[in-house]
Amino acid sequence: MTLRDAGIDDIPHILEIAAAEPNAPHWTQRTYLDLLPHSRIRLAEADAKILGFYVSRQTFQTEWELESIVVARHNRRQGIATVLMADLLSAPEVELIHLEVRASNHAARALYEGHGFRSTGTRSRYYSNPVEDAVLYSRP
Ligand SMILES: CC(C)(COP(=O)(O)OP(=O)(O)OC[C@H]1O[C@@H](n2cnc3c(N)ncnc32)[C@H](O)[C@@H]1OP(=O)(O)O)[C@@H](O)C(=O)NCCC(=O)NCCS
Repeated sequence: MTLRDAGIDDIPHILEIAAAEPNAPHWTQRTYLDLLPHSRIRLAEADAKILGFYVSRQTFQTEWELESIVVARHNRRQGIATVLMADLLSAPEVELIHLEVRASNHAARALYEGHGFRSTGTRSRYYSNPVEDAVLYSRP
């Protein structure tokens, strides 16, 4: 498995993986096109197939927001998100990371907590369809 930056040609594959996952943000192609030049969008791939990705956006100087991390359903529990997370955390420009996650998303919360993220609060009824609280996490 290798990691690399996403390019325009990868967007259809990213959309496909995200569309199959209720917990992933369902952004449009336009949103990804806008994000590409200003964000860190990294892919894990093997045999020219994208297995997972993350999208992280700089919010202020060395502060970043992890917008999403998604692994294709058939490739889960093989350590792919762990490798993606290590890639983000080892980037020299990233010193402080924030994120928010559905309270019921136990897999993602375990992933984040296993990588040193600590809960800093909640946002009541932050998500819709279904309505649910967000748990906020940060990692210095
Ligand atoms: C969350 C997600 C990215 C994890 O990807 P993954 O490649 O399967 O994760 P890994 O195999 O690297 O697992 C790393 C750790 O995450 C946690 N974890 C992953 N899947 C889990 C599950 N189904 N239940 C509980 N913990 C889980 C565990 O702590 C695991 O460590 P362990 O294997 O030592 O127990 C994946 O389940 C996913 O794509 N979910 C849907 C999208 C999503 O919810 N993204 C987050 C919000 S944008």
